[in-house]
Amino acid sequence: MNGIKTAIGTKEDISTAVAIIKGGGVVAFPTETVYGLGANAFSEEAVKEIFKAKGRPSDNPLIVHIPSVNWLNLVAKNVPDIALKLFKKFSPGALALVLEKSDNIPEIVTAGLPTVAVRIPKHDIALKLIEECGVPISAPSANISGLVSPTKASHVFADFNGKIPLILDGGDSEVGIESTVLDLTKNPPIILRPGAITADMLLKVLPKVLTHKGEVLIAQSPGMKYKHYSPKCEAVSATLFSVALNEYKKALNNGKSPVIIWCNPQGAEGAEVINLGGNAGECMHNLFAVLREAEVKYNYIILQYFEESEREFTALNNRIIKAVNGVVLRA
Ligand code: TXA
Ligand code: MG
Repeated sequence: MNGIKTAIGTKEDISTAVAIIKGGGVVAFPTETVYGLGANAFSEEAVKEIFKAKGRPSDNPLIVHIPSVNWLNLVAKNVPDIALKLFKKFSPGALALVLEKSDNIPEIVTAGLPTVAVRIPKHDIALKLIEECGVPISAPSANISGLVSPTKASHVFADFNGKIPLILDGGDSEVGIESTVLDLTKNPPIILRPGAITADMLLKVLPKVLTHKGEVLIAQSPGMKYKHYSPKCEAVSATLFSVALNEYKKALNNGKSPVIIWCNPQGAEGAEVINLGGNAGECMHNLFAVLREAEVKYNYIILQYFEESEREFTALNNRIIKAVNGVVLRA
């Protein structure tokens, strides 16, 4: 403790917080992810106070918070269009984008990196605070380095009582874990820290993303999510011919008129069977024509699913699984 009396304020005290930050001081404030420990991001001296208070290693860069995309060029340069698209979809919100740093941002903020992480927090108090300060606010989570991140003003008080002048209380942090950090200076963009904005959500905007585990995820082409390749009648798939025959007999007993579509069918036991082809190429060539033929003559299709097969069957399986709406019968 260094003897400062730590006040807990509300949104009524934003003007006090603004005065502290304009004077080069540090204030804790609420965001929807976790509470932040903020200072003027343009001031090296002020940002030093954050590192001091947290006991944060100087090689760990801080996130810079702005109230809207209109401020982006104050903190970053050569901002790619994709950053604007991402912010448009996910901001204000739990997404910090790593961009090329503007010369306005002192090196202490970015730990000497040429890049800066930028976030637009989704909390009235945070947004008002930054706007009224008129400068971007760099803020790490408001905990002593290495301790648990704070989601209540009381958590911040426990760590910083006597060390900072003011904690603005904005209630419990809605999200509760820190933002997703996405590095847009890499291709494909990399999720450096996973958060509430998930890879799948990012793939609605990005064609590709590298996860924090090193997996490359690719957006599905828009058409993939719609139902495709569906015959007009009921259809299922089976991995073994014996399974297909069983299903055939059941369907017959239920008064349906079934057909089995198979590659090189053997031992049909009198069942109606259409040969799909003798190899992957032939099966691919025939698939749609055979489905169209079958849906006219029959009302229940049992289609081969090439489960344990070589890669040459991958595309075929992809169409088959859609045609049968994911229904695979196994032994
Ligand atoms: O949700 C959040 O992001 C919270 C609230 C207060 O906004 N802030 C937060 O800050 O979690 P902090 O300092 O606890 O975590 C920032 C993370 C660190 O993992 C840091 O290494 C990374 O962001 N980071 C910051 N700038 C970066 C940069 N230029 N390049 C790569 N990573 C960066
Ligand atoms: Mg932290």
